[in-house]
Amino acid sequence: MNKFLLRDRTEWRTWAIPRRLWEKPIHRWFVFPHSFSSELVYALADEWGLGSDDHILDPFAGAGTTILAAKELGIRATGYDLSPLAVLITRVKSSNYSAQRMEQVLSRLMNNVRRAQLNGTKKQYPELVSKALPGDLLGAFDSIDRCITKASDSKAERDFIRLALLATLPKFSRAVATGGWLKWVTNCNGASSVVSVFERQVRLMIEDLRVVRFPRRTLCKVGAADARVLPDAGPSYSAVITSPPYPNRHDYTRVFGVELMFGFLDWEGTRQLRYQSFHSHPEARPNRPEADGYRAPRRLTRVVSQVRKKTTNRRVHNMLEGYFLDMYLTLREIKRVCQPGAKIAFVVGNVQYNGEQIPVDYLTAEVGEQAGLSCQEIAVARYRGNSAQQMGRFGRIPSRESVVIFKRPGSSP
Ligand SMILES: C[S@@+](CC[C@H](N)C(=O)[O-])C[C@H]1O[C@@H](n2cnc3c(N)ncnc32)[C@H](O)[C@@H]1O
Repeated sequence: MNKFLLRDRTEWRTWAIPRRLWEKPIHRWFVFPHSFSSELVYALADEWGLGSDDHILDPFAGAGTTILAAKELGIRATGYDLSPLAVLITRVKSSNYSAQRMEQVLSRLMNNVRRAQLNGTKKQYPELVSKALPGDLLGAFDSIDRCITKASDSKAERDFIRLALLATLPKFSRAVATGGWLKWVTNCNGASSVVSVFERQVRLMIEDLRVVRFPRRTLCKVGAADARVLPDAGPSYSAVITSPPYPNRHDYTRVFGVELMFGFLDWEGTRQLRYQSFHSHPEARPNRPEADGYRAPRRLTRVVSQVRKKTTNRRVHNMLEGYFLDMYLTLREIKRVCQPGAKIAFVVGNVQYNGEQIPVDYLTAEVGEQAGLSCQEIAVARYRGNSAQQMGRFGRIPSRESVVIFKRPGSSP
């Protein structure tokens, strides 16, 4: 018997995916294929009656949807993410910039870019980056990057422009992110149009600064942190709206490998990030805090043993076991940093291995209760088809994508 309330909220189906973000000012500066839409944040904030006295946490900030949506609503927000790319995106989207000032920075930058030799690199990049940006492409990106360093003394302003450069990169890269994997393509734009496409991207961002009006100056903070070990000393949040990676084997350090190794990390640093990330892909091998008190849910042990009968791939079993241990550690941290009465929403997706359904939403609800939270409901936002490979072998079995809603016990202060 399931003790958790499963509620149909399929009116949210287009909000669990990022499609709408592509049309929205600021949100569209960089979209992750794994993002949800800001409408989900507006709906939850409305349902929970959040206002200017509240403080929202997103410990898996990704492309910054929750933090920016909170800012749009005038609600204080803090975001963390393990990936330096996600931290940069979220920080730039939620900072305060003046369109006029950024016009000046762009104009100085473009003067330098026009004078620069846009070929040859000064830096040694990992092989993935030079393969993804062959010929003069890498030289063009590297030169613009060097010009950005001289365009402003303000790190925040340089970050704004760097985000534009990172958003331009996929339009030229031979390694294209398709959902969870990198696909190699041959026919892409050539190096001669890098500068104009990049300049267009900066202008689009400046245009967005002109159209968006925030209701008040709201404090938004973003930092690098592991969701299993948050830096906050005590309970400061009244709400959490977040989405951890799904246990679908997608590895963000591979999907965004070109951006990460162009802009932030060397090959070894990227590998360490891969190891330390949530156990949602088989290559993760994170250092975790002690998980005293955690018992793998019986439902998980049962389903993993079914998967085990059908495949000898131990890495998938380890991943599934590690995933819910990570989920427990995260939810335990959330309980520690949330005020009594806080509302918590985790967007999760069920997955299938060898025809076995893994009910990630139920299991998340179960480990959340072990961590001391109280599950209020599992809101089913949509049903997704299984992967083409699974569908071919086991038929079409739709998987739920749900919002698991918890409350931190105790009454609000
Ligand atoms: C599903 S995405 C979040 C998407 C986000 N809700 C949005 O709308 O853009 C999950 C994020 O979790 C981050 N992540 C993975 N492991 C993490 C960890 N241990 N601690 C914090 N963040 C982690 C990934 O870098 C990724 O940005």
